[in-house]
Amino acid sequence: MKSLFTILAVALSLFAMSTACSPSKGSEKTAAEEATTTTLDTAQYKKQGMEIAMGTFKVLSGQLKAAMQEGGVKNAAQYCNTVAYPLVDSLSGQYNAQIRRASNKVRNPKDAPTPREQEILDAYHAQAEAGEQPKPQVRQLASGEIAFYAPIMMQDLCLKCHGKLGETLKAEDYAVIQELYPEDNAIGYEAGDLRGIWSITFPAPN
Ligand code: HEC
Repeated sequence: MKSLFTILAVALSLFAMSTACSPSKGSEKTAAEEATTTTLDTAQYKKQGMEIAMGTFKVLSGQLKAAMQEGGVKNAAQYCNTVAYPLVDSLSGQYNAQIRRASNKVRNPKDAPTPREQEILDAYHAQAEAGEQPKPQVRQLASGEIAFYAPIMMQDLCLKCHGKLGETLKAEDYAVIQELYPEDNAIGYEAGDLRGIWSITFPAPN
């Protein structure tokens, strides 16, 4: 039987992968709507948040890799553009949670951070700059909903579509991406960089 530690370690290492091209739905809570509570079982929500990230990873990364093997980065970028959104949407329904990603440098404008996501992003970036590893966290919103956040880190594989132009990101591949996302801002990353956050919202507990 796997120890809890092993499971958590695997969960964390899968975070970055699971983000390959999943999309998101908007939510407009502000920081002022947030509240903390002493009774909230944060460990339980962290576990659930990780499970959702892992589940999303399995579905998305498997298909992303297959698309890359089949037709290279160009094919995979098109896959991300058309298939990822409905897939993650159906997972949001399956998990009864709103699954979202946000970043300071977005490819899909729908992933632009809400005010409270911006706060988390700012804190995570400050931690990363200080050489610390940002950690998953859980907050209860004033609405009663529970928000789970976790960092999304860059890996070598990601650089083919998010790396430095003319270096890790080929100009011909980026031309395809720019056709799909004329406003794209999600490039220039190196492996190990903080790319953005998971933002998963659970309904208010009964
Ligand atoms: C084959 C190209 C490709 C690869 C490889 C790739 N991505 Fe992406 N990524 C995209 C596309 C296309 C989108 C926009 C998806 C959409 O429209 O919802 C995206 C969106 C994202 C987003 C959402 C924020 C935004 O900018 O819209 C994150 C976070 C992200 N990618 C992280 C990663 C990480 C981490 C990896 C490596 C594990 C990775 N990506 C690998 C193409 C790629």
